[in-house]
Amino acid sequence: MRVQVSRDCSQLIIPYQSMGLRMANLAVLVLFASIGAVAGQYGSPAAPLGYTSPSSAPPVPSPPASPSSSPSLKVGYYQSSCPQAEKIIMEAVRIATSKNSGVGAGLIRMHFHDCFVQGCDASVLLDPTPANPQPEKLSPPNFPSLRGFEVIDVAKEALEKVCPGRVSCADIIAFAARDASFFLSHGRINFQMPAGRLDGRVSLFGEALNFLPPPFFNLSQLIANFKAKNLDEDDLVVLSGAHSIGVSHCSSFTGPLAPNPPAMDPAFATKVLSQCPLLSPNISGDPTVMQDIVTPDLLDNQYYTNVLNHKVLFASDAALFSSQQTSTKVLENAFMPSRWEMKFAKAMVKMAAIELKTAANGEIRRSCRVINN
Ligand code: HEM
Ligand SMILES: *[C@@H]1O[C@H](CO)[C@@H](O)[C@H](O)[C@H]1NC(C)=O
Ligand SMILES: *[C@@H]1O[C@H](CO)[C@@H](O)[C@H](O)[C@H]1NC(C)=O
Repeated sequence: MRVQVSRDCSQLIIPYQSMGLRMANLAVLVLFASIGAVAGQYGSPAAPLGYTSPSSAPPVPSPPASPSSSPSLKVGYYQSSCPQAEKIIMEAVRIATSKNSGVGAGLIRMHFHDCFVQGCDASVLLDPTPANPQPEKLSPPNFPSLRGFEVIDVAKEALEKVCPGRVSCADIIAFAARDASFFLSHGRINFQMPAGRLDGRVSLFGEALNFLPPPFFNLSQLIANFKAKNLDEDDLVVLSGAHSIGVSHCSSFTGPLAPNPPAMDPAFATKVLSQCPLLSPNISGDPTVMQDIVTPDLLDNQYYTNVLNHKVLFASDAALFSSQQTSTKVLENAFMPSRWEMKFAKAMVKMAAIELKTAANGEIRRSCRVINN
């Protein structure tokens, strides 16, 4: 189904021939129209790294995250211990993102991938060692697609010069994701990020597979996956809006790792699939395609219109429009951009407080890639 929004957003035009949609969705659409509603990843094809079918077992619920914004996190945490900290990080993100906006997308995704595995503790940054040859970083959800590591390195190096041993890598990721959101939204997403996280010492390949949702998850799987991290359906829908920037490898939405590809708008399907080896034999390897073909480098609410128009890559994106409750949220976000921007900021802060480490199991790393001795 394609949904068109008139200039003043006062009405939705639903083409007659697309009425095969679910009545629940239709009801939502009609409601909105009538109230004049407002305004590689999972492995390269060469080595899918054994990412098997949807994990039959739902994610093991982890210990409940500390209530709301954990009491140990504070806005302005480094004000006295390292006053330049946030500025140094923002500058590193600004420079990297102005050269390549994709790096900013990578940093926003890195925050998500860090927080969902062992909590927000920079476990995603740890390099393989003889003692731990298979850290999160090498797991299919992260390798080879996760990017932005060198920005964290640049920031950490600068911070270690100015205030050695003070700023955790986990906080650097959270600030960097905040800053990338600011730059990629052209300043519209602008919020304070509380800090005071500690870095973890555990990073496991299997946990990244267990906790990071694959792109073929359906709605109930996605909801359960987020719930295990104390995030609700609203957070799921709001944070998925990050798919309005960055890219996806073809292997994430075609081939064996996409057992249930979403029904795509035919023109969109032709366009994206012609860039992928599965349908274009003249193409080899695992290229990337833009997630949002309308405003590819802008972090905005275009994603939700893309969901409505079936111009999204993953089953997990399309799934947001498969229940009445989440469809309503998709519509709200599609038609209320500033409300979505505020919700996105809030959800990023909420995600940034998942399962924080304590003095007993955390530290401030000297190098973000290795644990301290
Ligand atoms: C809801 C479940 C989610 C699923 C199943 C999912 C899945 C994916 C997949 C498969 C890719 C493409 C990776 C590749 O092949 O290169 C991707 C990219 C991306 N995801 Fe998600 N994601 C989800 C939620 C999120 C959240 C919560 C965020 C952040 C708030 C996020 C931010 C991004 C960004 C920014 C990219 C582009 C990365 C780049 O260009 O390097 N995603 N996601
Ligand atoms: C989602 O997938 C799971 C596992 O395959 C299945 O049990 C469940 O019924 C599906 N839910 C929906 C809404 O399709
Ligand atoms: C490969 O073929 C498709 C159509 O089959 C075309 O759109 C695309 O431009 C070609 N790509 C290259 C790299 O030649």
